[in-house]
Amino acid sequence: EQSRQIAQTLAEFQLTKAQLLEVKERMRAEIQRGLSKETHELASVKMLPTFVRRTPDGTENGDFLALDLGGTNFRVLLVKIRSGKRRSVEMHNKIYAIPLEVMQGTGEELFDHIVHCISDFLDYMGMKNARLPLGFTFSFPCKQTSLDAGILIKWTKGFKATDCEGEDVVGLLREGIKRREEFDLDVVAVVNDTVGTMMTCAYEEPTCEIGLIAGTGSNACYMEEMRNIETIEGNEGRMCVNMEWGAFGDNGCLDDIRTKYDEAVDELSFNAGKQKYEKMCSGMYLGEIVRNILIDLTKRGFLFRGQISETLKTRGIFETKFLSQIESDRLALLQVRSILQHLGLDSTCDDSIIVKEVCGTVSLRAAQLCGAGMAAVVEKIRENRGLDRLEITVGVDGTLYKLHPHFSRIMHQTVKELAPKCDVNFLLSEDGSGKGAALITAVGCRLRQQEQ
Ligand code: BG6
Ligand code: GLC
Repeated sequence: EQSRQIAQTLAEFQLTKAQLLEVKERMRAEIQRGLSKETHELASVKMLPTFVRRTPDGTENGDFLALDLGGTNFRVLLVKIRSGKRRSVEMHNKIYAIPLEVMQGTGEELFDHIVHCISDFLDYMGMKNARLPLGFTFSFPCKQTSLDAGILIKWTKGFKATDCEGEDVVGLLREGIKRREEFDLDVVAVVNDTVGTMMTCAYEEPTCEIGLIAGTGSNACYMEEMRNIETIEGNEGRMCVNMEWGAFGDNGCLDDIRTKYDEAVDELSFNAGKQKYEKMCSGMYLGEIVRNILIDLTKRGFLFRGQISETLKTRGIFETKFLSQIESDRLALLQVRSILQHLGLDSTCDDSIIVKEVCGTVSLRAAQLCGAGMAAVVEKIRENRGLDRLEITVGVDGTLYKLHPHFSRIMHQTVKELAPKCDVNFLLSEDGSGKGAALITAVGCRLRQQEQ
């Protein structure tokens, strides 16, 4: 009886192929709404133009600084790109912490901290006087009006620094640099991490025209036809569009598949009612869904001897790396138990089996939903180009994709099943998105010189 009830609870997370096809169709519809002039203001999937008009061609050249803010790590990088026959990219980087009180303090504190880290990095590299061009990977939804201007629409993930929403983040960075009066930099581009990842991968693999992040957050970008992007002038060529697909479902279109656990996770988050799809498929929230299911199963007396410990009440205990460990096939149950123990959860062997099952169910759905979204994107590109078959590469990054033992395989499989007319190749970005930001900055610098 107990196992029947547990199975029933988990069944709410199981999606049929018909349901996944439906999710794909809805994503297709939202893509259309985001691109069209009449509907984009109200669209949940924002389809933001990035002003990146082509992938790299090997002619990029120069030394650049890059910032990478918004994922697990904040980095400052120096990227040296050399063009020509022996083209090469050399990178130096340093990871800096962003303390919680800075992430959630004032915007001025946040940008002062960022500039402080740049200053430390320039000292470390011995480059204080260089006035390098800089590419700013800023992994949040920004409304861009050019390559070097991006108004933060809304913070996502764990950030909530005040006085930034509605502001141009390039301006905020420039002001921070001015306040410090110590060095000067030329901020040339603001770049979403999906776009940076696509560009990083496209430098090695020219068929890469899509970027995907399955990490703390979830998002994708791709090369869309200018004629289809009705929100900006011009009909020639293509432009990369930052989809901000994490907000898919914010208009209620996924409510029929969301469970009460998804609702609980949403309500407990900083941005309730927002990023509903992201909250079903990204690393920051999967552990929270698991935790909410475990609390419910414990309340019903199926787990942890019916005792809800303080640990289980703690938000954020199940980080992606723990979920990934728990689901690793090589782990014996005893080891699962010891991970739970390590988290402060006293479990029996039976508990461990159930916890592992819960994790598996939640991550399976996440990978399938992500795959359904990607299937919509590749189908859109195939139709744009009027092809019977499309061959394309997706550049991917993110801790969930990289660490989880099953996520990537299930996601790939789902894309195959839901977009049978597309041959989709996934390429893991080995260099993060900072390299891509530098490549974009290189092009930005060249365009500026041509204009002068
Ligand atoms: C990294 C990028 O490689 O991937 C980051 O350089 C990005 O900018 C990240 O945000 C996404 O992964 P995660 O899991 O750290 O959010
Ligand atoms: C969030 C951000 C988005 C970013 C994604 C992955 O969804 O809004 O800009 O690309 O996380 O980091």
